[in-house]
Amino acid sequence: MENPFKYAGIVRGPYFADRKQELSELLSEMRNLGRVFLVSPRRYGKTCLIFNLSDKLKKEGYCVAYLDLNAYPDLASFSVAVTEKVSRTLESSTDKLAKLLSALKYLRPRVEVGPDGSLAARVEMTVPRREALPALLEGLHYCDELARKKRRKLIIAIDEFSDLAKYDGQTIEKAIRSEIQTHSHIGYIFSGSAQSVILAMTQDPQRAFYRMGRIMELGAIDRSEYLKFILKWFKKGGYQLKNVDFELVFEAAEDVPYSVQRMCNILWEKARSTGTVTQKMLEQLPLLVARQDSVHFELIWQTASQAQKILLMALAKQQNAKPFSRAFQLAYGIGPSSSIKASLDSLVKKGILYQSPAGRYKFADTFMRYWILNLAERGAESR
Ligand SMILES: Nc1ncnc2c1ncn2[C@@H]1O[C@H](COP(=O)(O)OP(=O)(O)OP(=O)(O)O)[C@@H](O)[C@H]1O
Ligand SMILES: [Mg+2]
Repeated sequence: MENPFKYAGIVRGPYFADRKQELSELLSEMRNLGRVFLVSPRRYGKTCLIFNLSDKLKKEGYCVAYLDLNAYPDLASFSVAVTEKVSRTLESSTDKLAKLLSALKYLRPRVEVGPDGSLAARVEMTVPRREALPALLEGLHYCDELARKKRRKLIIAIDEFSDLAKYDGQTIEKAIRSEIQTHSHIGYIFSGSAQSVILAMTQDPQRAFYRMGRIMELGAIDRSEYLKFILKWFKKGGYQLKNVDFELVFEAAEDVPYSVQRMCNILWEKARSTGTVTQKMLEQLPLLVARQDSVHFELIWQTASQAQKILLMALAKQQNAKPFSRAFQLAYGIGPSSSIKASLDSLVKKGILYQSPAGRYKFADTFMRYWILNLAERGAESR
């Protein structure tokens, strides 16, 4: 049987754990063509959730267009992509599409011939790139019009929405808001992992997206639900579980679904030959994953400064540390606070650490912590 614990890309259907509550809330928001800002730390499963929601919505007859802002370096390419993707989900005939699109002012259709001779309607901008914003607004307006004409309900999901700032910010936000507010056939999901950016966008009365939609903070998957999912698969695979307590896995993963999946994936393979899962195997999992990723961690480690390395080591040893406290600085012989702050800022910027809502500095990848702990242990042994 294939390993059911997928940890890369989009995880769907039976391989997708729980999220029933979130799916049902999102479904009802989208049935009302609402606007939802979906936020969580990285690798909590926003993108997977959107795809699973999209599968359900499509079954109910909705059209869904998914866009990841990461993929569009400038506003012009985003404007083109929105229009093109939405058009294609709403109209399959290339001829009709080309006709519909030819009514636009800033964008125009371009029919492309594929290697097999098939035709596809693409979109391109007819104006200089600096006019990308009017092109985007025209594209969005056209999407709503097209949905109306086709009598379809359309959902547009924009992932990594916090990236919008890269298109030179607030004028764009204002313009998008006023366009979107007129839409009557489109529901929107804006999703992102830069929680502070999205929360600032939506909770600051000065900003354009203030109260424009519901904010849904995606938390961890409930442990008992996740456990049911894990046990169901191991049972299906014919594995014996001998007095195993998966709490240890959730703790090590800090409840990040990606990390739980990584560990379960390895466990499945490790126990495959004997067909038995033991507690000892569970205990080894974090380090096994850390070893799989060691090339990546090694690279990060090599590019860190000496001060950053000492700090990372200290944070690995003492989770939930208060790096600006005197006790912490004395215990690890680091300081002063100003240089710790500089190191922390740089490590956060590089995505190695992140600051939790409670203000603690945590490893963005929990397995890096295990890798560093192992490094420290090996260092101590060789002394
Ligand atoms: N409900 C789930 N069931 C099973 N695996 C999940 C689930 N949610 C997330 N995962 C795992 O976590 C990985 C990351 O999920 P996803 O890419 O959806 O997270 P994300 O929140 O969009 O992350 P990022 O902020 O980095 O874009 C998936 O590839 C999958 O392995
Ligand atoms: Mg994502």
